[in-house]
Amino acid sequence: MLENEVMGMKVENPLFLAAGILGTTASSMRMVVKNGAGGIVTKSFSIEANDGYENPTIVKIEGGVINSVGLASPGVEAKREELKELTPIRSKTPVVASIYGNTADVFIDVAKKTQDYVDAFELNVSCPHAKCGYGSNIGEDPDLTYEIVKSVKDEIDNVPIIVKLTPNVTDITEIAVASQKAKADGLTLINSVGPGLRIDYKTGRPILNNKFGGIAGPMIKPIALKCVYQTYEKVDIPIMGVGGIKTYKDALEFLYAGASLLQIGTSIMYDGPGIFKTITDDLKNFLVENEYDSIKDIIGLSHRI
Ligand SMILES: Cc1cc2nc3c(=O)[nH]c(=O)nc-3n(C[C@H](O)[C@H](O)[C@H](O)COP(=O)(O)O)c2cc1C
Repeated sequence: MLENEVMGMKVENPLFLAAGILGTTASSMRMVVKNGAGGIVTKSFSIEANDGYENPTIVKIEGGVINSVGLASPGVEAKREELKELTPIRSKTPVVASIYGNTADVFIDVAKKTQDYVDAFELNVSCPHAKCGYGSNIGEDPDLTYEIVKSVKDEIDNVPIIVKLTPNVTDITEIAVASQKAKADGLTLINSVGPGLRIDYKTGRPILNNKFGGIAGPMIKPIALKCVYQTYEKVDIPIMGVGGIKTYKDALEFLYAGASLLQIGTSIMYDGPGIFKTITDDLKNFLVENEYDSIKDIIGLSHRI
């Protein structure tokens, strides 16, 4: 009932782990799968190891968190070893590697070194607190996004390429269309919003070491939904919806808006990894009660009524 095949990835349910949460080691990713995730997106990584920003890198807000982890990650060689260990689970649970770089060559190099161990790549051109030249510096510009995606697609032809977009632009559909034109196989919408700021009311100091960070969690859901809904009307490639999913009702909204697959990040920090099983059980019950045969029947529903 929740099974689907999207971008060549067969899933038992649509709920993937989002990039950046528990996606660093093979053991933490396996633990998330044991808790019912339909697929995994790794923490973003690149060629070189990156220490990211100094602590504190994450702070709670009403309805979510602000983070400026700064893409802290091991380099590609270490990450490849973690990915290798996931091989046994990949037949049932696709593994998507989130990769980042500042040039097409870096993306291609990372992809070539890991392509045997993943079911898709998610190009992170959308991190709002990455160093200059990385992350949203690329994904805010449709021409640059087109160039990078096209170059990666020209070199990597056996693994689907998903482009993860930033909502922090005037018109996200412009970047989505540029990605499709560059032959992206799918899109992930959205990376975190902002950046935003929190200040310690006692001292007056910004709380995060980097001051500003990306806003995530239930409070960004309406923005994410709007991005998915608008983009669905402009492209033909599949969309992974992410941003504030906490219950099956949130999941349904993203499916109705046009997402074929979903990702969960911040809510795992609040509710624990058991959230995957809770949402899949609730989704199944909803489909049965409402006499749907398959989850496929409700993808994009809002555009048909
Ligand atoms: C602590 C933290 C780390 C994150 N790291 C990454 C990352 O490495 N790469 C990436 O593309 N997105 C990263 N994100 C963004 C999430 O993947 C997701 O797009 C965003 O948080 C919205 O989803 P959510 O509301 O379910 O958390 C991170 C988010 C958080 C909260």
